[in-house]
Amino acid sequence: MFTNPRWLEDAVFYEIYPQSFYDTNGDGIGDLPGVIQKLDYIKSLGVNAIWLNPCFESPFQDAGYDVSDFRKVAARYGSNDDLKELFDRAHAMGMKVILDLVAGHTSVEHPWFQESMQAEKNKYSNYYIWTDNWTEGDDKYKFINGYSPRNGNFMINFFYCQPALNYGFRDPDPEKPWQLPCDHPDVIAVREEMRDIMRFWLDMGADGFRVDMASSLVRGDNKAQGIKEIWEDYRSWMDENYPEAVLVSEWSHPADAVNVGFHIDFMVHFNLPGYSSLLRCEKYRVPNSPFPAGNSFFDREGKGDAKLFADELLGQLEAIKGRGYVSVPTGNHDIGRIRQGRDLDELKVIYAFLLTLPGVPFIYYGDEIGMDYIEGLQSKEGGYNRTGARTPMQWDNSANAGFSSAAASELYLPVDASPDRTTVAAQEQPEDSLLNTVRKMIAIRRTNPALASDGDFEVLFAETGKYPFVYARSLAGKKFVIAVNPSGNIVSEDISCSGSALTEVLCSGCAVEAVGDVFRLNMQAVSYGIYSIE
Ligand code: NOJ
Repeated sequence: MFTNPRWLEDAVFYEIYPQSFYDTNGDGIGDLPGVIQKLDYIKSLGVNAIWLNPCFESPFQDAGYDVSDFRKVAARYGSNDDLKELFDRAHAMGMKVILDLVAGHTSVEHPWFQESMQAEKNKYSNYYIWTDNWTEGDDKYKFINGYSPRNGNFMINFFYCQPALNYGFRDPDPEKPWQLPCDHPDVIAVREEMRDIMRFWLDMGADGFRVDMASSLVRGDNKAQGIKEIWEDYRSWMDENYPEAVLVSEWSHPADAVNVGFHIDFMVHFNLPGYSSLLRCEKYRVPNSPFPAGNSFFDREGKGDAKLFADELLGQLEAIKGRGYVSVPTGNHDIGRIRQGRDLDELKVIYAFLLTLPGVPFIYYGDEIGMDYIEGLQSKEGGYNRTGARTPMQWDNSANAGFSSAAASELYLPVDASPDRTTVAAQEQPEDSLLNTVRKMIAIRRTNPALASDGDFEVLFAETGKYPFVYARSLAGKKFVIAVNPSGNIVSEDISCSGSALTEVLCSGCAVEAVGDVFRLNMQAVSYGIYSIE
């Protein structure tokens, strides 16, 4: 049984897409000195951890998820010394920094792959998955042919330029000798390379990793035994040598991910329909998105389904009890912005919810001020429909929204051109701005353990087609009740839960009265209430 570092008990993460955060050298692209300069701002949110998207050497055919040197910060972001300085400064301010570990593939430009694609056998020939002949393949996997002098096709993980590293086949097909078993020495060598990369950054001061496509390393692994062995092994090694470091998976099924050793897994769109039903259906979809049609719960129309999500969350929590955490993020660099199609008041209701859920919240940069998804942008670095959620952070209303001093035409991506775009500067003062509301909610969460990662979660009201959604959080004798009504309708609901009084902690448009032995919640359209209960 693994144990978790204490700092996860009240952790709140902030995801930074480095190319779009803050540019200090005027080349139009964000950089690590930019993140360092903005640490005071990040700290002011109340978060205690940062997840930095890939910042390593890369040809950037997938925005850095195509790494060509795992141990070197890309020149456009600065240097390894800058990253070390970021670790040191963040630590001095009480914040952790985790990196993005692209464990499953490299860029075709990575020196391992450059060797692997040679016709002559060499140390790296088996670092990737190659068929024995250029006419061969396997319908279950994606292969690229015709790329190199080597007589074979290589398997990819995502884009054509991202060859899959070879973690072996759990049950290799005897007819296909190129499928190596998981204990083949060359496969073990790949695993050790990845461990060495983790060691390199952990020794420098990194506090862990968000692991890209964490579930998909081993092939033919129907019972997920191969993947279990890998992550349990890495986790045991980390617990022994870096007990404060954490592993966060891109898996989207916490019940699986946490049970193989991850500290945190996201509940997002793939695998789990409850997430989409809550936040991302229908009009919140970016073009060609994988989200299903239907009605989101967080929508003024009021036709969503909180029960689908509640049941799913309860199931995941039960499956990982005491072992690790679920995260329902505000968004990330792969999906549309939570702001899309919503106003800032609606976002406050969403954050009252996301910031009082069990597990560990992640806030995608700019979501705290309600940055919007920008429609119609040309794809940048393999972003396609994700590009609109990756635009520059909006700091103020100076040129380029204060992101960069470069000419607008030189920016990594254009800034939101809308005259009413939100900015940090405009939201700093007003007490009830979205930014200050998010700060308040994070502070409430982090000063009340019952509302943070480990507090119990009990559903008090979640019915298909009905509003509000009401739940309780409790720990060590302290209890809170949270109610959210994102719909455009006034709603009222009687809630029975033990306690004699509900005391307002943070509310907007929500009132409560005791009626007999129940509490009656009277909720305005688009409202929320966070109450402590005695
Ligand atoms: C998931 C990452 O979040 C995404 O941005 C990337 O394109 C793929 N994995 C491939 O690495």
